[in-house]
Amino acid sequence: MRVWRSLRGSSIPSLGASKLRGIRFNSSSCRAIVLPRFGGPHVLEVRPNVQIPDLNPRDVLVRARAVSINPLDTRMRSGYGRSIFEPLLPLILGRDISGEVAAVGASVGAFSVGQQVFGALHPTALRGTYADYAVLSEDELTQKPNSLTHVEASAIPFAALTAWRALKSTARIVEGQRVLVLGGGGAVGLAAIQLAVAAGCKVSTTCGPKSINYVLEVGAEQAIDYTAEDIVLAIQGQFDAVLDTIGAPETERIGINFLKRGGHYMTLQGEAATLADRYGLAVGIPAATAILLKKQILYRYSHGIEYWWTYMRADSEGLDEIGRLSEAGKLKIPVDKTFPITQAREAHEAKEKRLVPGKVVLEVD
Ligand SMILES: NC(=O)c1ccc[n+]([C@@H]2O[C@H](COP(=O)([O-])OP(=O)(O)OC[C@H]3O[C@@H](n4cnc5c(N)ncnc54)[C@H](OP(=O)(O)O)[C@@H]3O)[C@@H](O)[C@H]2O)c1
Repeated sequence: MRVWRSLRGSSIPSLGASKLRGIRFNSSSCRAIVLPRFGGPHVLEVRPNVQIPDLNPRDVLVRARAVSINPLDTRMRSGYGRSIFEPLLPLILGRDISGEVAAVGASVGAFSVGQQVFGALHPTALRGTYADYAVLSEDELTQKPNSLTHVEASAIPFAALTAWRALKSTARIVEGQRVLVLGGGGAVGLAAIQLAVAAGCKVSTTCGPKSINYVLEVGAEQAIDYTAEDIVLAIQGQFDAVLDTIGAPETERIGINFLKRGGHYMTLQGEAATLADRYGLAVGIPAATAILLKKQILYRYSHGIEYWWTYMRADSEGLDEIGRLSEAGKLKIPVDKTFPITQAREAHEAKEKRLVPGKVVLEVD
């Protein structure tokens, strides 16, 4: 985990020219959206002079042009993950970014100043991307597709890397296999459908009525409106992999029952953080591990399948492939609305109250 020491501490050294390569970067602070305490959207503060940390040798300083809002951002703002993050407040939220390289650490070989990049931070990063300048490690970035605007690019990495983690790293899907995405209308669901289609798999998905046309357009063979149809009756056949973006007891039961023997069920709603928040890290994490192990053993014996909690992970190979697919028009996450970064509160409210159903992006002028 990247430890960003403090947003206030005057003792933090500013970004030193000696630690950087090939650039003149004079600022030691920038504007950022700061989370000083957990709460509603109103707790987010625009601060003009937030210190920019020194770059480690493999770090890249990115001038942000667009940063998208993920459910993790609104959940963290409300206190999800407080067992880890509370002692480290204030934080900067935000995982996704698209922008330009402003400076590189001493060992960075893949990027140079001025290059257009996009990428995503690990879920536990403390200094997020809601800022004029964000620090990411070089394996969390790749070249921005030329065919996409910064707004379009910023919507992709965190969701697509989550889907990549499940389908490519965990289930290791291959051509000809069948994939079921439960909840295919959101960003991760859409990314999963498109990654599976690009891998040569046949995809079935469930989603709300507004998403039906889009999931079919991006390549799903079967789209089931879960508000109007009985999913169990509508789903046809057995699957090699199920990605459950909803993670409710009912979707878990359905996902498990529609897997072939040897198939993989992956939910995005792993319980580690929730249990750690409820019981503290010392009790919550072992309890979560025990629950996961019990389910893995149970489903291996009862159904002959593999059960997983999927968490987003940085993956430079995956991100490069996500960049290539996006450039080729094979991976898109539609953006419903943009806000200036100074209106992060309004943007969080719109996302959280579902005033905007799809992806929301903050534009950084
Ligand atoms: N474990 C991880 O590392 C990880 C990583 C990323 C995301 N996640 C989690 O995965 C989930 C999906 O993330 P995302 O980025 O794809 O989110 P998203 O883009 O906001 O999409 C969520 C989708 O779920 C459906 N939905 C949302 N709220 C609903 C409600 N109250 N009732 C019924 N359906 C609802 C909607 O699809 P329809 O309109 O088609 O119904 C919506 O588009 C979130 O819970 C997020 O926290 C976990």
